[in-house]
Amino acid sequence: MKQGTILITGGAGGLGSSCAYALKDHRIVIADYAQEPVDRAVAELNAQGIEAVGMACDITDPGAVRRLREFTANQGDFKGMVHTAGVSGTVGDPRKVFDINLAATATIVDEFSELAAPGTAFVLFGSMMGHTIPPDPRYDAALRDPLKDGAFTVVEPFVQGNADTMYNFTKRGVLLICKDNAMRYGKRGARIVTVSPGVIMTAMAKKALEEHPAVMKQTLDMTPAGRYGQPEDVARLVRFLLSDRAGFITGTDVAVDGGVLSQILK
Ligand SMILES: NC(=O)c1ccc[n+]([C@@H]2O[C@H](COP(=O)([O-])OP(=O)(O)OC[C@H]3O[C@@H](n4cnc5c(N)ncnc54)[C@H](O)[C@@H]3O)[C@@H](O)[C@H]2O)c1
Repeated sequence: MKQGTILITGGAGGLGSSCAYALKDHRIVIADYAQEPVDRAVAELNAQGIEAVGMACDITDPGAVRRLREFTANQGDFKGMVHTAGVSGTVGDPRKVFDINLAATATIVDEFSELAAPGTAFVLFGSMMGHTIPPDPRYDAALRDPLKDGAFTVVEPFVQGNADTMYNFTKRGVLLICKDNAMRYGKRGARIVTVSPGVIMTAMAKKALEEHPAVMKQTLDMTPAGRYGQPEDVARLVRFLLSDRAGFITGTDVAVDGGVLSQILK
């Protein structure tokens, strides 16, 4: 007996697919940028006996996000969403990082509020790096409302063309959007939370390991858990947060970082 439908954006990616396996007793909707990886992810899940369907969706296209909401609602018995779709600073373009990680998250949170109903839960992916950006009235309003005209130009001077720095700002924005929407979702009986992974060994992190080995080693040295994270560490947390056992957890962030933040934000 399947326990409701769960949408996973970025479902063909490292953490998204790991979440799909951890939620195998649900009906899974895989969404990702292109059709081919979506089809592959769905076929792999189906081959494991997991009920899954998929849809290609560029989350920066509001029309595509609306169609994804309709597609997901049509599966029936909506239980929740795991929003993992995102890019790291390795894409090199701060505007792209802003549009995909932050503006699209705001679009998704607005669009999917229609599916917020008693017992549903929404998990957005932040990052421990979001916690390294301090509160500041000069940019926080733009991070909270990235769809507003001129929001990018407000944040841009603080990152000085650096896409990795923009990544950190966008993840602070995701944390703020979650808090700002907690009451709106709560009034509909739904929960919304963020998870902030540390370094998790997916393709994204492996690329960072190749490009910034010294920084990555420094991070490992500062990790109380003494190891990098595995996708399953995150997927188990997401499974818990989506379950009714997490019924009193909303409007907050849960770090799954091996303790790194405890060392850098003393
Ligand atoms: N892996 C880590 O160490 C780590 C650490 C902290 C936070 N995160 C966050 O976790 C999330 C997932 O990361 P991952 O490691 O699985 O990365 P990944 O690159 O494996 O997966 C991300 C997925 O998002 C999809 N995507 C990118 N742009 C898109 C768009 N415009 N529309 C639709 N889909 C799009 C990609 O196609 C990809 O499948 C990201 O939000 C990332 O910032 C990851």
